[in-house]
Amino acid sequence: MDFYEVVKKRRSFRVYKPEMPEKEKIERILEAARLAPTWANMQGVHYIVVKEPENVKAVWEAIGQETKFIDAPMFIIGMISTVGSGINKSGEKYYGVDFGICFEHLILAAAAEGLATCWIGWFNEQKLKKLLNIPKKYKIMGLTPLGYPIKPKGEVKERKPINEFVHYEQF
Ligand SMILES: Cc1cc2nc3c(=O)[nH]c(=O)nc-3n(C[C@H](O)[C@H](O)[C@H](O)COP(=O)(O)O)c2cc1C
Repeated sequence: MDFYEVVKKRRSFRVYKPEMPEKEKIERILEAARLAPTWANMQGVHYIVVKEPENVKAVWEAIGQETKFIDAPMFIIGMISTVGSGINKSGEKYYGVDFGICFEHLILAAAAEGLATCWIGWFNEQKLKKLLNIPKKYKIMGLTPLGYPIKPKGEVKERKPINEFVHYEQF
């Protein structure tokens, strides 16, 4: 699929068919995440693929958005090491940028495979870290269900027109 088609096709899906995505599709999606760039090629992002039904249920509970992600057959949980992250010239840690790039690679690859995702940023991190046995130095930055959408088509949510946020030469 053409890149721009993928970008247009991606949207956030909150209701899923229970069928599990094919193993090869999951592997290709993870490969797309692997190829993402990171600060000084640090590659600090890790993913936990959760497919066992009782673990999927436990993740869903830790997210705590009861009316959403219904029947999601699996989740991918993304985290990054906060130690050894890049630091910009203002002294700010830059790991959130690395994570965002990697996870968006994953999400766009899923769209290219005809699969649905929803970036989830609202979750109980402490609960999830305990549940998934995640070492202290990692911060969970996002997770997504992965599966086939109930309604594969639909309107893309409205976006601002280009001239409201693109500036030339000065703000
Ligand atoms: C960083 C981030 C965190 C998000 N967290 C949630 C979330 O916790 N729950 C949810 O239902 N959607 C979440 N979303 C999805 C956004 O609401 C969605 O991307 C936005 O409304 C635009 O819709 P679209 O993705 O369908 O184009 C999140 C998206 C991003 C990028």
